[in-house]
Amino acid sequence: MTVTAAEIRAFGNVPEHVAIIMDGNGRWARERGQPRVFGHQQGMQAVKRSVEAAGELGVSVLSLYAFSQENWSRPRGEIDALMELLSRYIQSERRELVERGVRVRVMGQLERLTPVARAALSRLLRDTQDGHGLILNLAISYGGRWEILEACRRLARRAAAGELEPESIDEERFAAALGTAGLPDPDLLIRTSGEFRVSNFLLWQIAYTEIHVTEVLWPDFGAEDFFEAVYDFQRRERRFGKVPF
Ligand code: IPE
Ligand code: IPE
Ligand code: MG
Repeated sequence: MTVTAAEIRAFGNVPEHVAIIMDGNGRWARERGQPRVFGHQQGMQAVKRSVEAAGELGVSVLSLYAFSQENWSRPRGEIDALMELLSRYIQSERRELVERGVRVRVMGQLERLTPVARAALSRLLRDTQDGHGLILNLAISYGGRWEILEACRRLARRAAAGELEPESIDEERFAAALGTAGLPDPDLLIRTSGEFRVSNFLLWQIAYTEIHVTEVLWPDFGAEDFFEAVYDFQRRERRFGKVPF
C-alpha cells in the first residue's frame, strides 16, 4: 500500500501525538551477519525519517523510546555504542532540527548517562527550546514504572511539606508530575519488529492509545511505514469506553 502525506492530511484526524517503540535493530543486523551495533547505527537513519514524516503530516508530538531502564542490563559494549550513537545523532542532526523548528524534550533517568551524552543532550535542549514546530520527546534511560514512582515521590514531598492536599491529587495533577507534563496523551503507539508488548513505555499515558504493530524492523522503517500506521489509525473507531453512535 502506498499512501501519501497529502492524502493523510486531506482525510483529517491526524494524530496529535505519535509514540514509537523503535525495536528490531539487533535482528536487522543479525539477518545481515553483522554485530548488533550495526543495526543501531542504521536505526539512526530511521529516526531521521520518522521525524521528517511526523513533520510532514503536521503531528504535534513524536515520542521515541530510545533506551529503556531495562536496556542498562545489556552488554557493556552495546551500551557504550548506544551512548556514543546518541551523541553522534545529536551532533549530526542538531542544526537540521533547529532549522525545522523542532523542540526537543527528554524524559528518563539521565543521571545514568555518560557525561558526554548528557552534555550533548543539554545543548540540544537549549538550542531547540524556541522551536515552534514538532515536539520531539525522547525517552532515554526511561521506564514507565520509574516515571510513575517519580511522580508519586514528587507529589508526596509536596504533600509532606504542606503545599498540597492529598485529596486534591486528580488525574490532571498526576499527569502534570510525569515526564510528559503538558503534552497530550499519545493517540497512536507504533511498535516495530512485530512484538505485541509495551515494554514499560508510557504506562500511564497509553490508557486509550491506539496500537499499531508492524513486522518492519526499525532500521527499515521509513516515511511510508509511518504514513501507513497513521492511515490505519485514521480508520479506527475510538470509543473511550462509550457507546458508538
Ligand atoms: C531496539 O532494537 C533498540 C533498543 C532497544 C536500544 P533492539 O536492540 O532491541 O533489537 P532486537 O529487538 O534485539 O532485534
Ligand atoms: C524496548 O525494546 C525498548 C526500546 C525500544 C528502547 P526492547 O527490545 O528493550 O524490549 P523487549 O526486551 O523486547 O521487551
Ligand atoms: Mg528489542
